Order: sequence, then C-alpha cells, then structure tokens
Amino acid sequence: MIKEHVDIDDIIERHPGKPESLIFLLQDIQAAYNYISPEAMTLVCDHVGVPLTQAFAVATFYKSFSLEPKGEHEIRVCLGTACHLKGGERIAEGLERDLGVDRGHTSTDLSFTLETVNCLGACALAPVVMVDDDYLGGATQNSVRRFLKKFE
Ligand code: FES
Repeated sequence: MIKEHVDIDDIIERHPGKPESLIFLLQDIQAAYNYISPEAMTLVCDHVGVPLTQAFAVATFYKSFSLEPKGEHEIRVCLGTACHLKGGERIAEGLERDLGVDRGHTSTDLSFTLETVNCLGACALAPVVMVDDDYLGGATQNSVRRFLKKFE
C-alpha cells in the first residue's frame, strides 16, 4: 500500500550524493511508495551520479525492488515442489485468467499483484496460496476465487 505524504526530495536529501548511496536510497523509496517509479529513478541517479542503466540493473537484480506499482492486495501462489505436484500451476494459471494479469504483475485497477514463489514454508498444506498475510492451504481455483470475493 502506498504511504502518502512522503516527499521524495526529503528521502533523497537524507542520503549523501555519492554512488554508494544508491541501494539505500532505492530501499527507502521502495519502503515509502512500495515501488520505484521512472521519475524517482531519474531523481536518484541525478543525486548519486550513477547512470540510469546501472540503477535499473541494480533494481531488477534484487527481488525486493519493484519497478511497477503494487496492488492493494498481494497474491502469492506457491510453485515449490510440494505445491507444484498438487496443482499450484493450475491455480496460478486460473488466477492469471480471472484477474487478467500475468504473474509478476499488477491488475490495471491496482487491486491485485500476482506473484509466484518457490516455497511458503507450509508444504504440508500444499498447494498453498497466500493473500496478503492469510495462508490458504489445500487451495483450489475455486477456494481462492471464493476468498478473493471478499475484496470485491
Ligand atoms: S512447496 Fe509450497 S509451501 Fe513449500
């Protein structure tokens, strides 16, 4: 969720204008806005004196950075071995169809971000889907659909 009233200039001014500040600045912007916009990236690069291509390379390397806005709700479908064997892929495909969004992306209305992960640490409950902080164990396309209805 985007935190409002955070001035990006305030964040930038907290860090020295040198290349070593790049990751710390990106972390603070990610924490404040939940993603790093192209405009923010340009401001950061100007401040620390790093080329845009280098900053984008850093931001795409670390999974904790997002270059597109996150949805209000995050759905994580586990595709680890236990969940994959029990139909995790089918659930992911169903969600892509239902939400009209590819995995790794956010629905156009910014309601949902759909991610796939390698293990949610609850293999005994496979297949597992996490919606925000809720674990859905023994998930099916229908049970996930029913759960998401409460956000409509
Ligand atoms: S493989 Fe899915 S929770 Fe571990």
